[in-house]
Amino acid sequence: MPAPPQSRPSTGTAAAGTASAARPRPAFPPALLTVLAVVLTGGLLFGYDQGVISGALAGIQARFGLDPLLTEVVTSWVTLGALLGALLAGDLADRLGRRRAILLAGALFVAGAALQALAPLALVLIAGRLVIGLGVGIAAVAAPLYAAELAPAALRGRFVSAYQLAITAGIFAAYLVDGVLPGANGWRAMLGAAAVPGALLLAAALAAPESPRWLMKAGRRADAQAALGRIAPDAPAAPQLDAIAATLGEESRRATWAEVFGHQWRRPLAVGLGLAIFQQVTGINAVIYYADQIFAAAGFATEAAQAAATTWAIGGTNVLATFIAILFIDRLGRRALLLAGLAGMGASLIVVGIAFRFALPASDLGAPPEAGGVAGIVTLAGLVCFIASFAFSLGPVVWTVINEIFPGRVRGRAVAVATAANWAAAFVVSQTFLSLADALGDSATFWLFAMFCGVGWVWVYFSVPETKGRSLEQIEAAWRETQTA
Ligand code: BGC
Repeated sequence: MPAPPQSRPSTGTAAAGTASAARPRPAFPPALLTVLAVVLTGGLLFGYDQGVISGALAGIQARFGLDPLLTEVVTSWVTLGALLGALLAGDLADRLGRRRAILLAGALFVAGAALQALAPLALVLIAGRLVIGLGVGIAAVAAPLYAAELAPAALRGRFVSAYQLAITAGIFAAYLVDGVLPGANGWRAMLGAAAVPGALLLAAALAAPESPRWLMKAGRRADAQAALGRIAPDAPAAPQLDAIAATLGEESRRATWAEVFGHQWRRPLAVGLGLAIFQQVTGINAVIYYADQIFAAAGFATEAAQAAATTWAIGGTNVLATFIAILFIDRLGRRALLLAGLAGMGASLIVVGIAFRFALPASDLGAPPEAGGVAGIVTLAGLVCFIASFAFSLGPVVWTVINEIFPGRVRGRAVAVATAANWAAAFVVSQTFLSLADALGDSATFWLFAMFCGVGWVWVYFSVPETKGRSLEQIEAAWRETQTA
């Protein structure tokens, strides 16, 4: 494969990056705001759908009389849909265009939300979970890809961090909505409310420009020029379009699946997949999804007390600690954050396990014990440390590295594969958490997650390269060097 031209921008709007070096551009043309709005609403929806089920489960269980297995199905089939959606998303975004793929995701969100809110049967509810999951998966691949292609090079890192921040804000919003909509039928409004950000995503994507890179790929130079004029009005379009055309020359032969999984890119694929999987098997979504049940088991006796702990301790900490990553990801680097975060997560989980083991011997997830004062406080503190450690490390860093680690030719498909692996792992965790807690006991389940933190720490230490401050071309070149070394 020929070496990339020196000036080649890392992703689509690299061209915009080239031009920006030549002359300063107004900070934020309005069209770029619509791009940011797409990224933010995409993340918001992802997060809302992750978070909302925690407070809705009790009402759903009561309405449909679900056993633990069906409860897990209702919880986790969004994730199954997201896994399928992520796998389809790469090709959809290539065929339909980034913007239309995102519009499709928005439409699926609205349809899935309506199905869930109106479900007369558990089966319809599960179908709605699957439909909304498809939307989540498509948006989870297409929105960051779109952001990466349209953001000016200098703002790209912040756009990806903004995406994770929006995910955490979505989870927080879901917890708040769960808190203000109690009652037997509150769950319908909780799940139906996802239609609001879904409609916002549709509106934002309708107003936003298509990716000039995709338009060039589709042979629509005039449209590409118009789109470029909107996101970078001050930069002359022709050289940028030529730069895009040059990179397309090299990338036009889209990598086959065999190449994505081939020997040549085995190491970046292992890094992407490993990060995607460790992000989930260390337990984040067991906590995000089942927070209310965990707090109930830890002695938070009333629904209001459980909801408050979930909203503020889990949801609020998740948002706030993400700012730590935004501040430090480009200064301390990805590795430092990952290693510190995994250590913090592991230690916190050990403490939570101890609280359940020794202070709450009779507890069982979902079956509240007598109010367990000290154990409740220790569990709360442990989970706050766990969430904070995740939010400044694995949360944002994993998505950042997944979007920067792959060489241009395989990036689209490889990112889709890593994202799908992330959802697959999330599916396994959310589908088995209650059963695991049942079979192994609560403490051992938390300790199992802690063990994965330990294994993850060692793996990150030896396998994940530092990508801070390097251009995507330098990262790609480094992979090539390791092959020839
Ligand atoms: C993960 C989600 C998780 C969320 C929590 C994301 O980075 O991919 O699975 O629910 O962070 O903030």
